[in-house]
Amino acid sequence: MCGIIGAVAERDVVPILIEGLKRLEYRGYDSAGLAVIDQQSLKSKKVSGKVAKLEQEIKDTLLSAPTGIAHTRWATHGKANYENAHPQISKELIALVHNGIVENYSKLRLQLEQWGYEFNSKTDTEVIVHLIHYHFNQSNDLLTAVRTSLQSIEGTYAIAVINPEVPGHLIAARHGSPLVIGIGIGEHFIASDIAALIPVTQKFIFLEDGDIVDLQRNSFKITNSGNPVKRAIHISQLQANAVERGQYRHYMYKEIFEQPQAIKNTIENRIHNSSILETIFGPSTHKLLKNINSVQIIACGTSYHAGLTGRYWIEKFAKIPCTVEIASEFRYRNPLPNSQTLVVTLSQSGETADTLAALNEAKQLGFGPSLAICNVPESAIVRMSDMVLMTHAGPEIGVASTKAFTTQLLSLLMLAVVLGKHNNMDHKIEHRIVDAINILPAQIENVLKLNSIIEQLAGDFADKQHALFLGRGIHYPIAMEGALKLKEISYIHAEAYPAGELKHGPLALVDSKMPVIAVAPNNILQEKLKSNLQEVQARGGQLYIFANHRAIMQELDYVKVIELGEVDDIISPIIYSIPLQLLAYYVALIKGTDVDKPRNLAKSVTVE
Ligand code: M6R
Repeated sequence: MCGIIGAVAERDVVPILIEGLKRLEYRGYDSAGLAVIDQQSLKSKKVSGKVAKLEQEIKDTLLSAPTGIAHTRWATHGKANYENAHPQISKELIALVHNGIVENYSKLRLQLEQWGYEFNSKTDTEVIVHLIHYHFNQSNDLLTAVRTSLQSIEGTYAIAVINPEVPGHLIAARHGSPLVIGIGIGEHFIASDIAALIPVTQKFIFLEDGDIVDLQRNSFKITNSGNPVKRAIHISQLQANAVERGQYRHYMYKEIFEQPQAIKNTIENRIHNSSILETIFGPSTHKLLKNINSVQIIACGTSYHAGLTGRYWIEKFAKIPCTVEIASEFRYRNPLPNSQTLVVTLSQSGETADTLAALNEAKQLGFGPSLAICNVPESAIVRMSDMVLMTHAGPEIGVASTKAFTTQLLSLLMLAVVLGKHNNMDHKIEHRIVDAINILPAQIENVLKLNSIIEQLAGDFADKQHALFLGRGIHYPIAMEGALKLKEISYIHAEAYPAGELKHGPLALVDSKMPVIAVAPNNILQEKLKSNLQEVQARGGQLYIFANHRAIMQELDYVKVIELGEVDDIISPIIYSIPLQLLAYYVALIKGTDVDKPRNLAKSVTVE
């Protein structure tokens, strides 16, 4: 999704803006641009395409300035072209970058056209910049002009605005889209994501909805509804090199191989004497979980698949009903509230607009306490929740989620135990789960050794248009996640089915050209699954079976078994997701797609 960075300093900010844009690239974008105030005149550069192209064009012009704003755009209104890229500029005076969506832009555009403004883009953003220009003409004060303009905007926004008539000022505001101030020494920054600012500061202030800030080199003033407000300063632990790719070819590959360490980090300080500590969710956990009689999980995409998996653990170990829903559906369904239902949001980024809105909706409706399982400590979802469990996976840059997913799974397993203890769970079961958790990093190391086998296997998929993924029970969501990974980065159409459902329709798709990938660990459903696989085999489908042992099925030209070895039943969903991540990665590599930034997708989906 779109990214914003801005700076007011004494030094030249152009290299800071470009570096910040590069650090925002992982979010997904299709055009980029910047505007600066150089000796009281506004200069801007935009490109359709990558930040590297913008950087090259800027080098050619020797642009340098102490105040500026920059943006990566992920197209919503209007194509990904030069005209629609940000900054949007009004009458060579006001330059603005914007994340979010202006819902009433058609009405505002008509009004502005009547006032004589000409539109050069198809963006919703352009109405904001002209409105600010209009109000600046009335008030001759940039802050007032921004505040007045925003009163007419319906929708979501994070904006940053500059005007060469007030050099050394940058006005920024947020409503529904994240925005953070970076505090430097004699300089200040603004960004949509702290990752953009880590090379220049570790001190941050997270703006809240309705906040407007007037940023200058040596000071800043935050107001909300016209009144001055104070916001806490946070010191981030994120290191600049934590978001670097190092010697790895892709972030996704690096992140797949970081999973043993990510899992260790998620476990650290959370288990004591073979017991999972309740306080890992925060100091008030005991009180908040005391009367819980059901769980509602809300998430999107990969996080939703983690939720679907977690449901099996919660119902099995905590013995309380759990429902899982896609956030964009939950928020409009008018669900029936229950004050004893724990609302669990799962989100890698903690900024997903639909998940945030669904959490808000659950709170408004009167659901019970909320718990966020999240990977970004300073994110909006974390700040909105009563309890929090950080996944500690470390920054995930590849758009296709990997280590965030497996650490979410582990977090849900720990949640199931904590809820179980409130429901008289036998200590022996807890100890058994803790033993399984403790061997997880080593088991992941083992399964990563399949790397070269899976690399070879990927060749079979390069010319395929479709693929079917099958699983049963708790491994059905793992099959769903495998299908999502393959479709996201290799652009092969992939669907997942519970294997028992095959004969109720999807079997019609099976022929010798259809690869069928089965997640088939050794558990009580394995025999049932084998019968389903026989149905595929009988119709000439190509089977790829991920199983504990080769013996699951006779290997033939069109039946390949990938042996994972002995895997503890409790943690097998976590282990079995890993070869599916590798499979998607290698297929994408052969197909030559942009693995870390697949087309049309964004890392953090901050619009509805
Ligand atoms: O940051 P979140 O976990 O809330 O993001 C949810 C989805 O957008 C995300 O999982 C998406 O499906 C990923 N691209 C999956 O690889």
